[in-house]
Amino acid sequence: MNILAGRRINERGHLEIGGADATELAQTFGTPLYVFDEMQIRSMCRIYKKTIAEEYDGNGLVLYASKAFSCMAMYKIAAQEGIGVDVVSAGELYTAVQAGFPVERAYMHGNNKLEKELIFALESGIGNIVIDAYSEADKLNELCKERGMVQNVLIRINPGVEAHTHHAVQTATPDSKFGFATQDGSAAKIAKYVMAKENLRLKGFHCHIGSQIFEKSSFALAVDKCVDFMAQLQAETGFETAELNLGGGYGIWYTDEDAKVSVEGYAEYLKAIIAELKAKTAQYGLKRPKLLVEPGRSIVGEAGTTLYTVGAIKDIPGIKKYVAVDGGMFEAPRYALYGSKYTAILANRANDKNEEIVTIAGKCCESGDIVAANVPLPKVNTGDILAVLSTGAYHYSMASNYNRNFIPAAVLVKEGNARVIIKAQTFADLVRNDVIPEDLQ
Ligand SMILES: Cc1ncc(COP(=O)(O)O)c(C=O)c1O
Repeated sequence: MNILAGRRINERGHLEIGGADATELAQTFGTPLYVFDEMQIRSMCRIYKKTIAEEYDGNGLVLYASKAFSCMAMYKIAAQEGIGVDVVSAGELYTAVQAGFPVERAYMHGNNKLEKELIFALESGIGNIVIDAYSEADKLNELCKERGMVQNVLIRINPGVEAHTHHAVQTATPDSKFGFATQDGSAAKIAKYVMAKENLRLKGFHCHIGSQIFEKSSFALAVDKCVDFMAQLQAETGFETAELNLGGGYGIWYTDEDAKVSVEGYAEYLKAIIAELKAKTAQYGLKRPKLLVEPGRSIVGEAGTTLYTVGAIKDIPGIKKYVAVDGGMFEAPRYALYGSKYTAILANRANDKNEEIVTIAGKCCESGDIVAANVPLPKVNTGDILAVLSTGAYHYSMASNYNRNFIPAAVLVKEGNARVIIKAQTFADLVRNDVIPEDLQ
């Protein structure tokens, strides 16, 4: 057994995922294929839960940010691990409900929740809604009044901490469609507005400072700013913050330019947050709020691998070598969206030495359809099975049918046993919602 980029390679020289031979998965289920290592996902849920239990007397809840990868099996895993979820649309909530997720442990986000989404959330019995607009507070209060109910809510605040991977900066005038600024009084103003609503019960505040952040001090800075705000609001109004939700954003390994954090290493993010939260609330003499965190990428990102079959190879002398695969931006949109970097392995020859730098291209009719650029690989041949690593987050959830390609299947693997959790689309799926009006018949 060999290890490459934290992945196991079996005695046949094949990449292993969750104890299964990746080339056999490709053969059994076809490619492209999203493959998820179940124990990796569960281990991440457990480390976060354990850290809150040990370091904060269990006074908190881990919410899986389901936008990272939303499907019924994922909500089942979150339910079994005893964590909560965040949802950002009625569609995500519906999926959770269909999976039997206990939605009293769900928090709904969104800067522009639709009335029908709010109604669906209320009628599903959602635990908490995170308000992000005055109009939303009005509408939600009205909907609750009509139903004779009182809804627990948080307010999304913007503590003015902007974090980009390695640095966090305090911005004076935050420019974001999300949240209410703490620095200019906007957050306090909406808090008072919501407190006065009869059918809303304000529990606390939520913020999310960014994604793919490695620097723990960024989160500590956000804690500082949030607790400053909580203290000021309490002094002014007597309001005691019962819940503080600090969002997600912990960075994962995509290439060796990123830190490789072990499962246990992720506890350090929560430890840094908790230490600061304890210190800062003590400084102000505030009651410690229930702590919520919302990791998405770090729970599923590294647990996911996409398998492809190599097709056309085009070597442009002196320029670059394109290795085209049977996927592309329709199932792996992050390069096209953000220029994201990835590591790839030849799953069928995982021990071969890297010999060349190639660009992995998709099959879409679009020059910008690249899966990963400048990837070191052994000499690649048509028919090889290529594995792109760390694709569990924001791949399937952002996939589309561009060029009427099929969104691939996803399998969940544990102890070598692979089960389909999302079926591959078929031709029938592509035309399911198409209608030919009578006059075109
Ligand atoms: C409100 C909120 N919470 C949690 C997350 C999850 O972040 P990540 O997947 O980086 O952990 C996001 C991501 O955009 C978010 O917007």
